[in-house]
Amino acid sequence: MPRHPRIDRTAEWRSLAKLAKSFKSVSLRDLFAADPARGTRYALAFDKLYLDYSKNLFDGEVLSLLLALADRAGLPAAREAMFTGRKINLTENRAVLHVALRNRSNAPIFVDGKDVMPGVNEVLSRMADFARRVRAGEWGGEPGRRIRAVVNIGIGGSDLGPAMAYEALKPFSDRELTFRFVSNVDGTHVSEALRDLDPAETLFIVASKTFTTQETMANAHTAREWLVRALGEEAVPRHFVAVSTAADKVAAFGIGTENMFGFWDWVGGRYSLPGAIGLSLMISIGPENFFAMLEGYHAMDNHFRTAPAAENMPVILAVLGIWYANFFGAQSMALLPYDQYLARFAAYFQQADMESNGKRVTRRGKPVGVTTGPIVWGEPGTNGQHAFYQLLHQGTRLVPCDFIGFKRSQNPVGEHHKMLMSNFFAQTEALAFGRTAEEVRALGVPEKLVPHRVFPGSRPTNTILADELDPKTFGELVALYEHKIFTQGVIWDILSFDQWGVQLGKELAGKILPELRDPSLPLAHDSSTNELIRRFREG
Ligand code: F6P
Repeated sequence: MPRHPRIDRTAEWRSLAKLAKSFKSVSLRDLFAADPARGTRYALAFDKLYLDYSKNLFDGEVLSLLLALADRAGLPAAREAMFTGRKINLTENRAVLHVALRNRSNAPIFVDGKDVMPGVNEVLSRMADFARRVRAGEWGGEPGRRIRAVVNIGIGGSDLGPAMAYEALKPFSDRELTFRFVSNVDGTHVSEALRDLDPAETLFIVASKTFTTQETMANAHTAREWLVRALGEEAVPRHFVAVSTAADKVAAFGIGTENMFGFWDWVGGRYSLPGAIGLSLMISIGPENFFAMLEGYHAMDNHFRTAPAAENMPVILAVLGIWYANFFGAQSMALLPYDQYLARFAAYFQQADMESNGKRVTRRGKPVGVTTGPIVWGEPGTNGQHAFYQLLHQGTRLVPCDFIGFKRSQNPVGEHHKMLMSNFFAQTEALAFGRTAEEVRALGVPEKLVPHRVFPGSRPTNTILADELDPKTFGELVALYEHKIFTQGVIWDILSFDQWGVQLGKELAGKILPELRDPSLPLAHDSSTNELIRRFREG
């Protein structure tokens, strides 16, 4: 990859810093008044998605500079490096090719001189065959019984993706099947998930890239014991399959390679949903819907790879995020889907974004010098409105928000959808334009209450509006945010595809576990940790 300039020392960065000062006193009211076409000028339509980014604090000059900054950071070359299988994950010496999992064009992609597509297609076709058989009651289970419950055991990227997507695409799922997602090592999670299931009709998918993750292995062993207690050891191959890159470890667990669905070290856990990690989702929604989802991912991949920066949705979202994080001091961003099926969307992108871009050194290991990945959070509307929107509207912090909504509901009951969407439109309008003191007074509000009733406005939002939450749209939406994260990582010159920050806690937990098992072991931690462990040991 080309050498990256210290981004905050570029002319574009300096100009943006100057402009940001003046923009702190510019209001969205002024920007909209000055340009009556702003609401359509700063909008993009791509296939199923419409992005309105006009309610942000920028003008044409700022946008050009932000796009020039992305260019200066080497975005086009970095993007090609990813799509063509270069080893851009430098600390692990790996390619980053989640785009290959949904490469529906089937154009070859080479890693170490070998086209990865035959392997990708082979796994997808085995998954489809398996999913069809489970859905038809032709796979596994006990003689004369069919699988009625599927339990995915995984954590992080091996859980959040399937769990989020299963919720998102529930209207397309086989409602005769029950799905559970077990992730937390807290025994409550697996106990609650299994308490009403019948072992004879339950299929476990142990999903772990490494097949060493403590939480997943503990839950998998507990599930195995639960099954063996009821059905005996010989039932294991009929009730357990694995999704992993580690065939030897899967075999050691007692799952044969014929019941293992593989992936590769060039798929990051948090980007693995469109491959074998999506097996539970494929069983739920069926192969056809799963492939429609992949079409959506692929369409967005192509858009990201080929659209000019000014018309490129992930790039636009990324540079606006940079604008607020680096020039306005925004610490977080909220993802606010107005669709109950996207209840886990923010949680999913919490991992995707924060594990990717929560980094403090550049690709070459120097301090990065600027603020990097935001804190990502959110809840579906309208619930959030009755919880944290107060702070969004009148608090002292700037929280850029992305609103995601759909023209049609999957459950068109009465006026619910119109009510939901009236809130959706109202919130971005209120956040942008607020209510001035004069307007408050004009409502007859007593003078001493006026400050409390003022809405400052100029709170930035993006709005994504799509027809409906179908599999293809869903794929486009997920890929949109994945590529936004990639673009920001390139601009900050950080490595978005490793996650060393999760290691230290894992290692320390590994040291502490024996100390909890054996209270006679001496404690040699700091005085705080020692005392906490001592109290825990007292029971
Ligand atoms: O939390 C760290 C992490 O390595 C994530 O990146 C990953 O998604 C998760 O653990 C699970 O890892 P595995 O799929 O190997 O069990």
